[in-house]
Amino acid sequence: MHKTINRLIVLTALQILAALPVNAAGPQIDKDSGLIVAPGFEEVKKTCTVCHSPMLITQNKADRDGWLEMIRWMQKNQGLRQLEPELEKIILDYLSTNYGPAATSRRPPLEVTFPE
Ligand code: HEC
Repeated sequence: MHKTINRLIVLTALQILAALPVNAAGPQIDKDSGLIVAPGFEEVKKTCTVCHSPMLITQNKADRDGWLEMIRWMQKNQGLRQLEPELEKIILDYLSTNYGPAATSRRPPLEVTFPE
C-alpha cells in the first residue's frame, strides 16, 4: 500500500519535472541586479555595480568594441580601475554576448511585482 503511494508520488513528481519547459522565460535574470545570469555574470556584478545601478548596463547594447570603449571612457573619466586582462576579457565576453546588438530582440522578461 505504502509502496504504491510512494511510487505514485515519485511518478507524479517526474511527470511535473518533465513537463517543465526548459528556459521558458528566456534568460535567467538575477533578482538582485537584473543582470542576465550567464558565464561572467559574477565578475560583472562584482566589478560593475559598485558605482552605479546595473540598469546602466542592462539598458545598454553594444558590440565588443562598444563595450570596451565604455570601459575605457570610465577608466579615463570616472575612476574605474585598470582591470586585469583576464577579468576584462571575461567581462567583455559577458557584455557582448548578453548585451550585444544582436540581443535586442531578446530583451529579458520584465519582472512583475504586485503591490502588497
Ligand atoms: C569607479 C566607478 C565605476 C565603476 C566601477 C564602473 N562604472 Fe560605469 N560609469 C561610472 C560613471 C560615473 C558613469 C556615468 C554615470 C552617469 O552618467 O550617470 C558610468 C556610466 C556607465 C554606463 C553608461 C555609459 C553611457 O554611455 O551611457 C555604462 C553602460 C557603464 N557605466 C557600464 C559599466 C560596466 C560594464 C562596468 C564594469 C566593467 C562599470 N560601468 C563600472 C562609473 C563606474
